[in-house]
Amino acid sequence: MTSAADTSTQPPGSGPHGATAHTAVVVGRTEIVPDIVELVMRPSRPIQSVPPGSHLDITVPLPGGPETRSYSLVDHGRDDGLLRIAVRLQRDGRGGSRWMHGLRPGAEITFTGPIDGFPLSPGRRPSVLLAGGIGITPIVGLASALRARGADYRLVYAGRSREHMAFVEDLEREHHGRVRVVEDIDGDLVDPDELVASLGDGGVLYVCGPMGLLSAVRAAWERAARPPGGLRFETFGTSGALPAAPFRVEVPARGLSFDVPVGTSLLDALESAGVEMMYDCRRGECGLCRVAILDVTGTVDHRDVFLSEHQRAENRAMCSCVSRVAGASLTIDC
Ligand code: FES
Repeated sequence: MTSAADTSTQPPGSGPHGATAHTAVVVGRTEIVPDIVELVMRPSRPIQSVPPGSHLDITVPLPGGPETRSYSLVDHGRDDGLLRIAVRLQRDGRGGSRWMHGLRPGAEITFTGPIDGFPLSPGRRPSVLLAGGIGITPIVGLASALRARGADYRLVYAGRSREHMAFVEDLEREHHGRVRVVEDIDGDLVDPDELVASLGDGGVLYVCGPMGLLSAVRAAWERAARPPGGLRFETFGTSGALPAAPFRVEVPARGLSFDVPVGTSLLDALESAGVEMMYDCRRGECGLCRVAILDVTGTVDHRDVFLSEHQRAENRAMCSCVSRVAGASLTIDC
């Protein structure tokens, strides 16, 4: 992913969906801005092809067993056979980013990939790249590839402040005159409608960032009646519009009642309660883990990219792998 966080339990030695796992040794670790470290890794076997926008699925040991976290490769255009990722510490996460931050040179990791999950459109169509926060990681390589193609492109990079945004100076130097930095701290905001309108017909908008940003851009894209294929995005499976908080869940059809603490997904909590759930991506993309909402006290923080804006507004279903409730309780059927 992304620089974020998806979760899928897997047996050690294999990747998600049975892909072959590889190993790599950490050879460099740099805190590039507060709470973001860049890790440089040497794979045990040479990696033949790393298309821009690719990510690795890295196995992280957590108390409940190994899980995967997806991290976009930061493609600085160096042909040295090393793999680079940048990891933001998620203080209210389940521990994956904390474990990654604890890695030091000499540590070994297991991964599958690179996975080409956020590819460039073919050709040289006019492009806008929009990154929010740590969503800059796949955008670095996409921007370089567009420059190499001689494409007409612009990069909009939004974050809290320059001091907290990774790779700002590098990007401004490498893409001189094409980078707009939007700092929340100055009250500056990305206007999704304006951004979509600024992209010429046939253009492509690439977005990677928190779910709130992505949802706003999707809504603007739909309002402008732009063709769906022109919007490409990479998701952060755990970021939402509202801060994560514990909530209570009732499943009357099964006689279940339990709490979902911060750091645990509704999907995980349902499985822990003995419900056999269907799921695949665990990052809000496939919709397989959907549950029906019967009642809710508070606000559903839809963190998926599967449901349409209309479905979200209806609030009759939610993707249990990523979405949460900011409020007291939720009654569902599944
Ligand atoms: S498992 Fe795919 S959306 Fe939840």
